[in-house]
Amino acid sequence: MLSLLLLLLLTFVSKPLTIHHQLLPEERRLLDSIAWPETPRLPVPISLKTTSDPAHSTFTILPVRLEALIQIRDFQGRPKHFGGDLVIARLHDRTLGAGVAGRVVDHLNGSYTAVFPLLWEGRAQVEVTLVHPSEAISVLHRLTMEQPNRLSYFSLFRSGSVSETVACNECLPPTQPLCNYTDLHTGEPWFCYKPKNLSCDTRITHFRGTHKADTHSGFLLASNLTFPLWQTIHFFCKLIYFRPSGTTQTISTSQMFVFIFLSGQPEVKSSTVKPEPAGYYYQGAWRALGGATVHQFNNPSAISQCLTDKVVHMYGDSTIRQWFEYLNSVLPDLKEFNLHSAKRTGPFMSVDMARNILVKYRPHAPPLSWTVIPANELHYVANELDGIVGGSRTVVVLSVWAHFGSYPIEVYLRRLLSIRRAVLRLLDRAPDTLVVIRTANLRALTLGIALTNSDWYTLQQDRALRAVFKGLNVHLVDAWDMVLAHHLPHEIHPRPPIIKNMIDVLLSYICPQEKA
Ligand SMILES: *[C@@H]1O[C@H](CO)[C@@H](O)[C@H](O)[C@H]1NC(C)=O
Ligand SMILES: *[C@@H]1O[C@H](CO)[C@@H](O)[C@H](O)[C@H]1NC(C)=O
Ligand SMILES: *[C@@H]1O[C@H](CO)[C@@H](O)[C@H](O)[C@H]1NC(C)=O
Ligand SMILES: *[C@@H]1O[C@H](CO)[C@@H](O)[C@H](O)[C@H]1NC(C)=O
Repeated sequence: MLSLLLLLLLTFVSKPLTIHHQLLPEERRLLDSIAWPETPRLPVPISLKTTSDPAHSTFTILPVRLEALIQIRDFQGRPKHFGGDLVIARLHDRTLGAGVAGRVVDHLNGSYTAVFPLLWEGRAQVEVTLVHPSEAISVLHRLTMEQPNRLSYFSLFRSGSVSETVACNECLPPTQPLCNYTDLHTGEPWFCYKPKNLSCDTRITHFRGTHKADTHSGFLLASNLTFPLWQTIHFFCKLIYFRPSGTTQTISTSQMFVFIFLSGQPEVKSSTVKPEPAGYYYQGAWRALGGATVHQFNNPSAISQCLTDKVVHMYGDSTIRQWFEYLNSVLPDLKEFNLHSAKRTGPFMSVDMARNILVKYRPHAPPLSWTVIPANELHYVANELDGIVGGSRTVVVLSVWAHFGSYPIEVYLRRLLSIRRAVLRLLDRAPDTLVVIRTANLRALTLGIALTNSDWYTLQQDRALRAVFKGLNVHLVDAWDMVLAHHLPHEIHPRPPIIKNMIDVLLSYICPQEKA
């Protein structure tokens, strides 16, 4: 009952993107971009027997085009007859430092095709991972609809010696009087229950509740499941070999490894279904496919030279703060100014006086799942962008995704659309401004993370973000592909070799002429 109320409320506050009103063509396009195949109905009990099982599933490599044909089977070994599993794939080789994300096509009948471009000569291993069985997608979908507030947020209010902590969120059941912190410029909603003895003006901090309590009902639901919500095992690995001009040969060394000698030049085969991946790794360095050439900025002087006379504004979650920290760690002349900000929250600012470089970081507004952030530091990215003059010396870097996973996608879309409008205003008044957006990436899943920020939620966000910024003069750093293609584990904060490659992509946008 409470969750139904929350849902209704959320539908109310998440206007105009609710499904209950006539969708504008733009809204329809955005929602279509995240459409997912139908998955098993809930709450009909789903048994382990009929759930997608990586151990029984198989794939076959079709040597002519490099495609892996994947057949998902259930725990009894019977082929599945519907789609909706979250399957990811990559082609890689550790010794060559090479890797590329595969494009997975869901045939909606239990089979999937992963398509890989052949971008290097030599050995490669195909790796296919079932992240979530389609049955788990049903559960994740249900969780979002029934418990959009499953992460709890709070604020401390204080005046003189009186203080009080109350619950806050995007929407709250109006069982008590509310403080309405809806942002007047962007229209972004945020509410807290009104403290008993204090006014709404006395809000001091924002913070997230403890994790276990947050997802209590999610854990209950998950404990009722008779199948694994997510899989961390790669269900297959097969080794293949490309040779420019050899005879076609298949050598089966074991059930797991198949060597295929391709005849003819390795070439990129077109796939009708998906565009090419954003790029690939070779010798550990990211090479873009299409768009700007990525250069290597391997020493501090090359980076400093590129950033000379620039102001770099970074806005968003900790995945962009990581870039700020990276620049500080590799540039000895970039000195962080002590703003006495709380650790990890910011804002932060670094300066290289001699080269006139200014790099700034500021978090986005709620929802933010950090320890404690002063309420006065909760600035919406769109409003910050409206405060920038812009121009050829201004670089804007955005990353807004990691804190939105537990909400219905409409909440995220609304935030992105407000940022999009501000980006359009910025590029209109200062067309030379460079705007770079870091996309979402895969992460390590635990039960708690899967319930609130599963890769499936992130994939929806990633698609939504691409749809929202499509056609604008903004550049993407494709974190999704860069993490998927790399041999390092999936982590919310990718490890330094991946960050180094992301920074190379960023700097290549800023300084396209820079010599390799
Ligand atoms: C599933 O659909 C694909 C694409 O239409 C087709 O090639 C394949 O044979 C189908 N598989 C089954 C088991 O029907
Ligand atoms: C909160 O404030 C906004 C902006 O003033 C207003 O549009 C909205 O109706 C208010 N919401 C509630 C539930 O009071
Ligand atoms: C509010 O003030 C009253 C009277 O001083 C006190 O009894 C009560 O405990 C206070 N409530 C809270 C939530 O602090
Ligand atoms: C778990 O299963 C029990 C018994 O079938 C049911 O009563 C309960 O509502 C379920 N809990 C959730 C969170 O679905």
